[in-house]
Amino acid sequence: MPYSKITGLGYYVPENIVTNNDLTQYMDTSDAWIRERTGIEQRRFFTYGKDTNASMAAAASRQALERANLQAADIQLIVYATITPDYYFPGSAFLMQRELGMEGIAVIDVRQQCSGFVYALSIADQFIKTGMYQNVLVVGSELQSTILNKSNEGRNVAVIFGDGAGAAVLQATHEDAHRLLSTHLHADGRNAEDLYVRDPGTSRPGRWVTKEMTEGSGFDVVMNGSAVFKHAVVRFSEIIKEALDANGYQPTDISLLVPHQANLRISEFIRQQMGLSEAQVFNNIQHYGNTTAASIPIALTQAWEQGRVQTGDLVCLAAFGSGFTWASALIRW
Ligand code: ACO
Repeated sequence: MPYSKITGLGYYVPENIVTNNDLTQYMDTSDAWIRERTGIEQRRFFTYGKDTNASMAAAASRQALERANLQAADIQLIVYATITPDYYFPGSAFLMQRELGMEGIAVIDVRQQCSGFVYALSIADQFIKTGMYQNVLVVGSELQSTILNKSNEGRNVAVIFGDGAGAAVLQATHEDAHRLLSTHLHADGRNAEDLYVRDPGTSRPGRWVTKEMTEGSGFDVVMNGSAVFKHAVVRFSEIIKEALDANGYQPTDISLLVPHQANLRISEFIRQQMGLSEAQVFNNIQHYGNTTAASIPIALTQAWEQGRVQTGDLVCLAAFGSGFTWASALIRW
């Protein structure tokens, strides 16, 4: 049976740096408040006319393809995770496919919020393990700055999120020593409204976008911060343990944990709870904020670029997000 191996990684972030102090133009907040509660110092916001969800993904994918020594024509499937697509439909995977000249191959759009990239990786892995495809492009891309309410009403959420994209090339291998060992996926819809955007939606009287809707606050991201925190710290630990147990490893065996960059306080809580050293956990939320489905591939690419992911390392990816969803992947690099 073939296994999967990550052979190329890439990322793209918009050039527009928005510091915590920059946000004080729009809302009553402060650098100290944001740093203390989230660890975030700055994030990137897109430039209109230059960046789109699909164009950021295409830039990340070009880099991943180049590093995998592959051409766009070698890819047989794109699995694309985002919650901030360019259009309501079709998904941004189609637009990126068009931009990269990959017409004709299969594309799958994944909507699993902050767990989106790990879900996408798992989907790609299943197609490779069945022998259906050999080269799959896995993408996480988010353009979130336009869905944020940057006034005082939305400030508890707006200070957290940023824009960016990351990509990985997954290829079939028969090399048992260097491969994706396992993926683990979970969801629980009972908490759907603890982190969600209600509008626009179809289950309404009349049209799916109404005048009342546009004047209301239903487009805003609603987050029950304490519920998210409580569930996140439990589920992150569970999903990391599940990946380790499935493969007969202990937390001390982890070379690098790349958690979804939700909030530095959450990552630090998990690190301490699991008895991991600072060197075992990669964080870059300080520079990019929370980029939802893009956060893991951006972080993994940067960790790899910095030499923190070496051949033979045991790398764990772990995510928790809206839905709620939680997911992990264990990789012997
Ligand atoms: N700047 C200044 N003050 C603010 C801001 C802000 N940006 N946002 C909220 N406040 C104020 C509120 O108005 C409130 O003031 P009050 O006490 O006078 O009413 C006070 O700060 C506390 O507001 P909360 O909304 O309760 O904010 P909290 O202290 O819970 O912090 C935070 C918000 C940091 C998001 C926290 O809930 C948290 O850490 N949650 C964990 C979940 C998380 O990190 N989610 C993001 C990622 S989601 C994911 O990736 C899965």
